[in-house]
Amino acid sequence: MADLSIEFCGIKSINPFWLASAPPTDKAYNVVRAFEAGWGGVVWKTLGEDPAAVNVSSRYSAHYGKNREVLGFNNIELITDRSLELNLQEITQVKKDWPDRVIIVSLMLPCEERLWADILPQVEATGADGIELNFGCPHGMPERGMGAAVGQVPEYVEMVTRWCKQHTRLPVIVKLTPNITDVRAPARAAKAGGADAVSLINTINSITHLDLDQMVAFPIVGGASTHGGYCGSAVKPIALNMVAEIARDPLTAGLPISGIGGIGNWRDAAEFIALGSGCVQVCTAAMLHGFRIVEEMKDGLSRWMDQKGYQSIAEFSGKAVPNTTDWKYLNMNYQVIAQINQDDCIKCGRCYVACEDTSHQSINQLVDAATGTRTYEVNQEECVGCNLCEITCPVQGCITMVPQDTGKPYMNWTQDPRNPRAEKVAAEQVA
Ligand SMILES: Cc1cc2nc3c(=O)[nH]c(=O)nc-3n(C[C@H](O)[C@H](O)[C@H](O)COP(=O)(O)O)c2cc1C
Ligand code: SF4
Ligand code: SF4
Repeated sequence: MADLSIEFCGIKSINPFWLASAPPTDKAYNVVRAFEAGWGGVVWKTLGEDPAAVNVSSRYSAHYGKNREVLGFNNIELITDRSLELNLQEITQVKKDWPDRVIIVSLMLPCEERLWADILPQVEATGADGIELNFGCPHGMPERGMGAAVGQVPEYVEMVTRWCKQHTRLPVIVKLTPNITDVRAPARAAKAGGADAVSLINTINSITHLDLDQMVAFPIVGGASTHGGYCGSAVKPIALNMVAEIARDPLTAGLPISGIGGIGNWRDAAEFIALGSGCVQVCTAAMLHGFRIVEEMKDGLSRWMDQKGYQSIAEFSGKAVPNTTDWKYLNMNYQVIAQINQDDCIKCGRCYVACEDTSHQSINQLVDAATGTRTYEVNQEECVGCNLCEITCPVQGCITMVPQDTGKPYMNWTQDPRNPRAEKVAAEQVA
């Protein structure tokens, strides 16, 4: 049976599944029930200076799919609305009662060294396993010079990380904001400041939808609204890319990553791990479906690892990173062609419409004159292998993209004679 235990920047955890800093981790009552359900660790809801933050009502909104499934989730909550003392007392007690579970304490303070120097020994005294610096909250707190306002300035990220490393022996995880052009800049700054790890992503600036009668966005607070932070399944592709960007950046190579963003099942988790995460954090899925989702995550991951012959998480962590590259290094001679399995086809014509109207006019619609029956066939000469028909087909597995034997060797864009700058690029690479 696969071993799900991990060691993440020196912190041992019975499994890679941690709850992210958010309402599910905001008090002992929740965290204890999460541990009972099987979560390996939690990042406690962000603590700050007293007096504690004050929240508004209402606070959440969602971007729905057709069947009212929540695709994306948006919130305008601030950090903890409970006193520092109460949180620290509860952390101490829970850690004492659950020594084999990880508790990371998330922190957010103004950029004044004395404030960090003051709080860090208090956090250390709780017995917590590490700290996470919340440089990512995109709403409310940046207006007060914290959260994303720090995470968007690499110099601040480096400075505060360095203060923390000076004032605590605990591992320091820097949580990054995705509301930035190039996430590698703050990740590099965190590393330069001595961070033991980075975690990402925090939420993305968002407005989900409007009430067109009241002419106001959701969530509504007394007739007005404000942008919130977007998370949940919809942000997973953005988070995965940012994790990969950091994992394959030579300047942050080896820096442990805790992957966050839209993780809702074992497969999502496996993907984050394969792209370089050492552990994963979950928020929205637990908020929508409860703590017990971790059972499917543990069982599914463990079963998949057994099937694949992976005995530990470390064995496949980062395994997809070398296969993630710049566009210019993709093989220009690789070719796939769509193939329709006529036995599975329900003749809906969606592939035809998609290819005809917006792609390469490579699917023929043949109508039997006698019966009126339609058949769809790929014109192999014209198909460029874009995947659009496979994506739009409602029958899973009906269209497959089949690799062709072109007989041509690997050739990337820097080597391609069609590249007007090929020689220059090649010369630059040699230099
Ligand atoms: C209601 C809510 C409150 C949150 N509060 C915090 C917080 O206090 N500190 C923090 O670092 N992140 C906070 N987050 C962000 C999450 O920890 C996480 O980074 C983000 O939701 C992406 O993960 P997900 O897609 O699994 O939700 C909050 C998210 C939500 C939905
Ligand atoms: S892969 Fe693209 S080009 Fe080829 S048949 Fe499908 S939609 Fe058309
Ligand atoms: S979209 Fe799929 S099911 Fe519909 S006609 Fe095309 S191949 Fe057949």
